[in-house]
Amino acid sequence: MAAFAPPPGTADIFPAEAGEWRFLENTAAKVFASYGYGELRTPVFEYTEVFQRGLGGETEVVQKEMYTFEDRGGRSLTLRPEGTAGVMRALTNTDVANGSEQRVFYYGPMFRGERPSAGRRRQFHQIGVENVGRCAALIDAECIAMLHNFLLAAGITGATFTINTRGVAADRVPAEAFLREYFSKHIDAMCPDCKNRLERNIWRILDCKQECCQPIIDNAPSYIDSFSDESKSYFAEVKAALTRLNVPFKVSSRLVRGLDYYVHTVFEVTHPAIGEQIAIAGGGRYELFLPGEKKPIPGVGFATGVERLLMVRDALQAPAVSGDRCDCCLIGLGAAARLENLVLADTLRKAGKNVALELEDRSFKAQMRFANRSLAPLAVIRGESEMEKQIAIVKNMADGSQIEIPEAGLTDYLLENI
Ligand code: HAM
Repeated sequence: MAAFAPPPGTADIFPAEAGEWRFLENTAAKVFASYGYGELRTPVFEYTEVFQRGLGGETEVVQKEMYTFEDRGGRSLTLRPEGTAGVMRALTNTDVANGSEQRVFYYGPMFRGERPSAGRRRQFHQIGVENVGRCAALIDAECIAMLHNFLLAAGITGATFTINTRGVAADRVPAEAFLREYFSKHIDAMCPDCKNRLERNIWRILDCKQECCQPIIDNAPSYIDSFSDESKSYFAEVKAALTRLNVPFKVSSRLVRGLDYYVHTVFEVTHPAIGEQIAIAGGGRYELFLPGEKKPIPGVGFATGVERLLMVRDALQAPAVSGDRCDCCLIGLGAAARLENLVLADTLRKAGKNVALELEDRSFKAQMRFANRSLAPLAVIRGESEMEKQIAIVKNMADGSQIEIPEAGLTDYLLENI
């Protein structure tokens, strides 16, 4: 059969792998619930302005990477490139605008028109959280510690947490002037992208990866010194709380994050097993304006990339999580045996057992191969002679031993033994 691949940057997830995905989702739901977070499901597409306004028109995601199309009425819609903006849009329908706190988590596909590469997809999946309606350094620390705990519960040890502060909005203008003064002296030696960033978005110079820019960025004076006392003491409180919570972290003033909505704490997580160019999670504190509201709503949150978490689990050779185990496989030769098997499977499945069976007329050999592939510990075998004698053969697939069980007691025997 000719291979028919899905579009570049997307992938099919087959049952053997889907068990790992469900493990991560279930682990996340369990850990997040212990911090009071409940699940929120939002649409995978939104009106385009939700992202333009939410993420900022100058960000790379909004300028270059969104999948945007018109709906039948001519309104512009966009496949969500991330979760935060849609969650905030949904929370306008709660009393968050009146000062209540909301703790929500989400998982699902996100879409960005990036050039596909290892760990970079056009449809990728995030597990994320948002804590909306409160602003406190201790909430930021709690949120980062929750991410740390989730990674540990997911079998991911040794992750590197990098944090930084972006200060309050009012700190930005003097800090930008401070950075512009320094970088304009060196701009001739910098890459073409940084030349553009000098006027358009000076912060992005700090996370430029081009070699020619590295020594210049490394020697930049600390803009955080120019931040207000409020911003500095907020950041000091986050760091102190993380230390008390035993979350190992390093501080880098080069961490600015790609989205415009951040204030105060920002953070990113990498893992040495897959390299520090590939973030497995990112987040921070933000302020977003809800439609019609004059005051921004504060929040803090993060999103992890599921494909990247799986890359780390793979590299760490974390114990594989099996999908749903098959409890028993039914093998039938002849129409009467196959019908009895179908009825038996129905009874066992209603009792919560996972049953595999072949319902087409296949040879005994083919059915035994199927039973082996199913990894079921027990196989039930019956052909015409077993049907006549009203018995079934139950085979232990591990050691090959088999016993005869009278048909009348077969269901009870299986319910007790599988
Ligand atoms: P982000 O850093 O753009 O933040 O994405 C979060 C994570 O999603 C990344 O660390 C990465 O693991 C994964 N990711 C992003 N793009 C791709 C891609 N093309 N292929 C595979 N994985 C990818 C956000 O999305 C923010 N909404 C996070 C946040 C929540 N901030 C506050 N609350």
